[in-house]
Amino acid sequence: MECLMAVILAAGEGKRMKSKKAKVVHEILGIPLVEWVYRSVKNAGIDDVVVVVGHKAEQVKEKMGDKVLYAFQEKQMGTGHALMQAQEYLNDKDGYVVVLYGDTPLISSQTISNTINYHKESANSATIITAELDNPDGYGRIVRSGDGSVKKIVEHKDASSDERNIKEINSGIYCFNIKDLTKALNELDNNNSQGEYYLTDTIEILINKGKKVGAIKVRDNNEILGINDRVQLAEAGRIIRDRIIRRHMENGVTIIDPDSTYIDEDVEIGIDTVIYPSTIIEGKTKIGEDCIIGPGSRLVSAQISDRVEIKNSVVLESSIDDDTKVGPFAYIRPGSTIGKKVKIGDFVEVKKSVIGDKTKISHLTYVGDAEIGKNVNLGCGVVVVNYDGQKKNKTIVGDNAFVGCNVNLISPVEVKSNAYVAAGSTITDEVPENSLAIARSRQVIKEDWVVKRGMLRQEKD
Ligand code: UD1
Ligand code: CA
Repeated sequence: MECLMAVILAAGEGKRMKSKKAKVVHEILGIPLVEWVYRSVKNAGIDDVVVVVGHKAEQVKEKMGDKVLYAFQEKQMGTGHALMQAQEYLNDKDGYVVVLYGDTPLISSQTISNTINYHKESANSATIITAELDNPDGYGRIVRSGDGSVKKIVEHKDASSDERNIKEINSGIYCFNIKDLTKALNELDNNNSQGEYYLTDTIEILINKGKKVGAIKVRDNNEILGINDRVQLAEAGRIIRDRIIRRHMENGVTIIDPDSTYIDEDVEIGIDTVIYPSTIIEGKTKIGEDCIIGPGSRLVSAQISDRVEIKNSVVLESSIDDDTKVGPFAYIRPGSTIGKKVKIGDFVEVKKSVIGDKTKISHLTYVGDAEIGKNVNLGCGVVVVNYDGQKKNKTIVGDNAFVGCNVNLISPVEVKSNAYVAAGSTITDEVPENSLAIARSRQVIKEDWVVKRGMLRQEKD
């Protein structure tokens, strides 16, 4: 049966990154470079993927896990040599293999599918993805014969000055007939300026055998941008961010200022939601419809329902239900579940807590390890004292309770439903249902104290 597979070359060192990490595990929007390539391959309908690892192999394997197969290249002796290491997966197979580099994260699944289709339709033995560049320096050049057909690829370092004038370059991404490729790999040598086994030499070998080689130009040159250093990493990041933001806008999301908005690849956003400037939406965040997010907000793997407003606030790994308003300047920390029509106002921090529907926590409050019921009011400056220096303790506030300003709830403690707690109280014991708790010393007045003590304050310049 004809198979369709991909080999991603990712054994190189990537010296110019000047990093302790393998080049292909550097991330764009939280996703390693090699994973971007893998996703495009996968979305093009290729399920069998081999990654050739070598330099810092363990780091690459840790990121990619067991969804791919691995080949190991002990010494980096060139791109052809790298592909030879994957030969055990190619031998005895009939069909097609797409070869790509792990450091070319912008390649789209569309381009990969187009290439496979073109390769099959043209009955090619090899098809090269190429690009026309104004500055082709450093790339392998596509040398064509008088009739316009591909003759060979010559590496920049091995090219004559005439060849260096060629603007059509090799992207390093190809589709091969597996059987032809494995034969050609066996004939590679390293007679060139770099003493490496060039994968690109297989093209000339195939042509000399009378095989048909074609080339397909990529529509968007950005797709073949290879990442060699951190400047290119940032450049590719910008291109990917633009793509994601465009996709959301096309899907019905208003993004006021695309230049100051960062949205991760896996984020989902419903229609008619508006994203204000300087907002960062990361991880697996899901936002519903008609929300207002930002300005100046950061959401990480947050689950936001419909008509929620989050202004100048940070929400981490928490869920927020319909019609709730958060911020400005609120901090929702991991493990929090916030109900419907809740108000979380300015300078409020919520950590690992459940907040019931219609509850108001309007200003300057800390809620940690707590369960706050429905329709509760936590006044300004309430502090849930959840940490006793040893462990975190739980606080429960029942439905419809009213906790006055500047109250300390010393956990573990419970305020039952419909209870009131007077402002300034420090609560250490359970407050029963329907009761009022006052836990503060009474006010004392010393009449004329100021005059008797000669303490009258004079205005000074
Ligand atoms: C290669 C192509 C060149 C093309 C360019 C596009 C060859 C000989 N040249 O050149 O025609 O224009 O890519 O970017 O193929 N790798 C290994 N093992 C090795 C060597 C490389 O796994 O022994 C991997 C690297 O990790 C990298 C990729 O192959 O991801 C490309 O290697 P690199 O040395 O950067 O090739 P270029 O010189 O850029
Ligand atoms: Ca390169």
